[in-house]
Amino acid sequence: MNPKILVIGSSNTDMVIQTRHLPAPGETVLGGSFFMNPGGKGANQAVASARLGGQVIFITKVGNDIFGKQALEQFRREGISVNYIQSDPDLPSGVALITVDHLGENCIAVAPGSNASLSPADLDEAEEEFQNSAIILLQLEIPLSTVIYAVEIAARNNKRVILNPAPAALLPDALFKNLFIITPNRSETEMLTGVAIKDDDSIRLAAQILRKKGAENVIITLGSEGAYIYNDEISTFVPTTKVEAIDSTAAGDIFNGALAVAIAERASLEQAVAFANKAAAVSVTRMGAQSSAPFRQELINL
Ligand code: RIB
Repeated sequence: MNPKILVIGSSNTDMVIQTRHLPAPGETVLGGSFFMNPGGKGANQAVASARLGGQVIFITKVGNDIFGKQALEQFRREGISVNYIQSDPDLPSGVALITVDHLGENCIAVAPGSNASLSPADLDEAEEEFQNSAIILLQLEIPLSTVIYAVEIAARNNKRVILNPAPAALLPDALFKNLFIITPNRSETEMLTGVAIKDDDSIRLAAQILRKKGAENVIITLGSEGAYIYNDEISTFVPTTKVEAIDSTAAGDIFNGALAVAIAERASLEQAVAFANKAAAVSVTRMGAQSSAPFRQELINL
């Protein structure tokens, strides 16, 4: 039986333009092709987990519009349970405007729309899914009060939470003690710890601060350099495969979706991070967010 993973977070429609370089303030850049694909950090993580073997329940809020309908169809196609997805009668679905340069770097602006109205009360009816899931996976593209409430429900049900603190935001100290894993990237780590990340020592120091705040395991994602794991027994860098990146959009989301599956399958932290690194490496060789998420068989064949 595949492990159950409860993902709570955002769903967006991504509008993507490829350009030679990212536009500077006030600059207009003539780009290449335009394409639209499903995105949103929560939805990307849900799809990545489902493609890699998780039995995924996704809680989000879409708008009562064409983007919301398309998102629901996409989740059903991916085999994700949509029983707790709500539709906001007033707000439009979330949209992200994304520019991707020739090195695969991106620049993203998000209009959260209905994601901003996913409230703590919306989680109450799903308490049973918290009880039935092996992992609760969260990010920060929905109201912080909802994230905090989700962590509380998980804690009272003794469930493991993975928090991907993206996009970067300050978090209350009380939240950390109920996190099984926190997975910031470099800039999120700087925001959460105040430590400028410049070398291995600063990465270690920042991880120690996050551990002291209460997170049981800290995994700092380092893009093409892999990831760093820190807890009371482990302090180790896990390198990743070198690939030719064409679009780094959602690489962190794919990492987290994969990590959740591996942890739910009871892999060790090192094994889980190696698996997540591999999934993220594949994703940056493809355009788009959910369109770049690999399937389990592809990772096995690699
Ligand atoms: O992490 C990538 C995602 O960030 C995109 O899919 C976009 O929708 C924004 O949420």
